[in-house]
Amino acid sequence: MSHAEDHAEDHGGTRRDFLYYATAGTGAVAAGAAVWPLVNQMNPSADVTALSSIRVDVADVEVGTQLTIKWLGKPVFIRRRTEGEIEAARAVDISTLTDTMGQNRANMALDASDQNRTLDEAGEWLVMIGVCTHLGCVPIGNASGDFGGWFCPCHGSHYDTAGRIRKGPAPENLWVPVAEFIDDTTIKLG
Ligand code: FES
Repeated sequence: MSHAEDHAEDHGGTRRDFLYYATAGTGAVAAGAAVWPLVNQMNPSADVTALSSIRVDVADVEVGTQLTIKWLGKPVFIRRRTEGEIEAARAVDISTLTDTMGQNRANMALDASDQNRTLDEAGEWLVMIGVCTHLGCVPIGNASGDFGGWFCPCHGSHYDTAGRIRKGPAPENLWVPVAEFIDDTTIKLG
């Protein structure tokens, strides 16, 4: 068995995938050698992903505003929430939510409690990937939508002040990326 066939079977690929990659090579003899670079290019390794970490200075972010930055090609919302937003988010009975999971990439077992999604104890800082979980549009912030959080006008998804889906077609809460404060005013993403 060639390496290419090994790969197709080990990773659940089909014979059709294998044939596609092989024919993308430079001919029958060279195919075995050409397959690996092509496949690897399409599956960035874990160490490449681990390097994709950035630091964000949030010293100038006022309460009640959001900083949006671009990270790994996606918008990331960093919101400094008001007391009212924190209270509203923490008063919600999570069993009533569309998505009862926290969607926190740091720990996918956590439920959607506000405390599981925010960065600090007090819940002032909420960091989320700014991509609607319906079809990927970028929701509008500034305490918008029926639940005072984010609103995606594409098909009408309303997220609450913790970024949890409350109304509309989106199936999941906005994702929370791996993030932490590394000093009083710097958030590290990734
Ligand atoms: S992409 Fe956001 S509601 Fe459809």
